[in-house]
Amino acid sequence: MEKTFALLKPDTTGRSLIGEIIARIERKGLAIAELQMLTLDETDIEELYAPHVNKSFFPDLKKFMLSGPVVAMVIKGDNAIKEMRKLNGATDPFEANPGTIRGDLALSKTQNIIHSSDSPAEAAREMAIFFPNSV
Ligand code: CMP
Repeated sequence: MEKTFALLKPDTTGRSLIGEIIARIERKGLAIAELQMLTLDETDIEELYAPHVNKSFFPDLKKFMLSGPVVAMVIKGDNAIKEMRKLNGATDPFEANPGTIRGDLALSKTQNIIHSSDSPAEAAREMAIFFPNSV
């Protein structure tokens, strides 16, 4: 069983879409192994998005991620990392196919509902930030 990290962003909590997104993950056959609702601070965001801190979009991303509560999760299942990325759809909702979370529910590259790890190394790094006992 593979584990990955996923984070439901402030647009998800603000639009009352937590259940909708978790239902899609569970219907796929993946399991929620850990779950925590919290409000991030600047340090959390800089740590989670360490690979992006110097990108031009980072200030807008940080402001958005501070704007409301998020739901951090460890998700478990066969091929969990790739299967979560498929469920999410492309980062840019205008590129994301219908049937994907972002394709169905988002219209903004920043406010795009969900983040999930893109590799085993990132999954381990991101899980360790929020669930240090789970890795
Ligand atoms: P996420 O999977 O959380 O990883 C980084 C986030 O930065 C990404 O989803 C987007 O929400 C956000 N972002 C905003 N602008 C861009 C951009 N131009 N390229 C990539 N990611 C972006």
